[in-house]
Amino acid sequence: MNQRYARITGWGKYAPKQVLTNFDLEKMVDTSNEWIVERTGIRERRIAGPDEPTSYISVRAAQDAMQVAGITAGDLDLIIVATSSPDYLLPPVSSQVQDMLGAKCGAFQLVAGCTGWVYGLVVAQQFIQTGAYKTILVIGAEEISKAIDYTDRTTCVLFGDGAGAVVVQASETPTGILAFELGSDGSGYEHLIVPGLGAIRPASHEVIDQKLNYIRMNGREVFKFASRVLGRSLLNVLAQAGLSPSDINLFIPHQANGRITEAAARLMGVPEDRFFMNIDRYGNTSAASIPIALCEAIEQGRAKPGDLIALVGFGAGLTWASAVLHLGGPDRSVAMTMAEELFLIAHAKYLARRTMGAVQGLAVDALMAVNERLGR
Ligand code: UT7
Repeated sequence: MNQRYARITGWGKYAPKQVLTNFDLEKMVDTSNEWIVERTGIRERRIAGPDEPTSYISVRAAQDAMQVAGITAGDLDLIIVATSSPDYLLPPVSSQVQDMLGAKCGAFQLVAGCTGWVYGLVVAQQFIQTGAYKTILVIGAEEISKAIDYTDRTTCVLFGDGAGAVVVQASETPTGILAFELGSDGSGYEHLIVPGLGAIRPASHEVIDQKLNYIRMNGREVFKFASRVLGRSLLNVLAQAGLSPSDINLFIPHQANGRITEAAARLMGVPEDRFFMNIDRYGNTSAASIPIALCEAIEQGRAKPGDLIALVGFGAGLTWASAVLHLGGPDRSVAMTMAEELFLIAHAKYLARRTMGAVQGLAVDALMAVNERLGR
């Protein structure tokens, strides 16, 4: 069987209608536009109204992505929705999305905090590479505003709502994810948590009275973790792919805090303007932030089919995930670009390293067997 690649053929996003500015927040809590802009880079964020639940914003982003890809719901083999803020605890919002789109395929919800969408993209690639599926929708959608205490200035200024989506399709042209890293460090689970409404503290008067149904964040700890992991994880996937930062056309980080991205850019020796940022207009939209940013980067001409893009997410769990990908695009007639050639070279290097590793492993095993026989 020919090698199969997972080509991104469509992208879309949806931003809820209501805009909540820093000046609005000044009237709600003891904060200031200056503090928020200086410490985070955020100027405004979107808040979903009652007519825009997570299922709805997911569908709106998905429909745009499907239109760019030139597919219909009947073409879909699988739907993945990365979210920590579904319409209900049960059912998974992915099934509502499948029904609303009119698709007849499997669907599941994926929870990995702000990192969820990158996890979802990697999962989609596996299904396509094995030949199991041809067309997969990967959505990141969040309404974190519903878990925010708007009297807590340490969290309410940070988060916003929104959705982004891509269509991933099987292709024989080299494209898609070249290298990835999925990470988790659960020892930090308490640093970003909704303490109530789960199995440990189910709904009760106490949960509501103590506001345990809202997000609690140890901002400094998450900041330290994110600053450590962002640059390091990107460097890991670049090394895995045999690429250097200068090979990457655009870095798209999770939009959590402009200062975290600045630190990563410094660590990697990459000019800051090669990191795409739209946090000023959306705040932190958790699992939706990277697909929204990818979509906007393409709309603004900052990323185009043929480019090499590096993604990195981090957040609750604590989790992180990075991926280097070649952006395919819907137009299958596009001739092989330089980036595609680069992809092939890097892919060959990656396979060679894996083969070398396997050969070395065999040699070590053989040596140990000989040693054992000789009784050493
Ligand atoms: O997507 C999930 C990942 N999440 C993140 O990556 C978030 C990571 N953390 C951060 O981005 C930052 O830690 C924050 C933006 C949350 C906070 O920034 P900081 O520079 O780490 O501030 P801090 O927590 O060290 O607080 C400094 C001061 C404190 O006052 P005192 O104790 O020095 O008097 C806070 O009470 O700033 C105060 N403060 C505020 N002041 C005005 C905290 N929030 C606010 C606020 N407005 N909204």
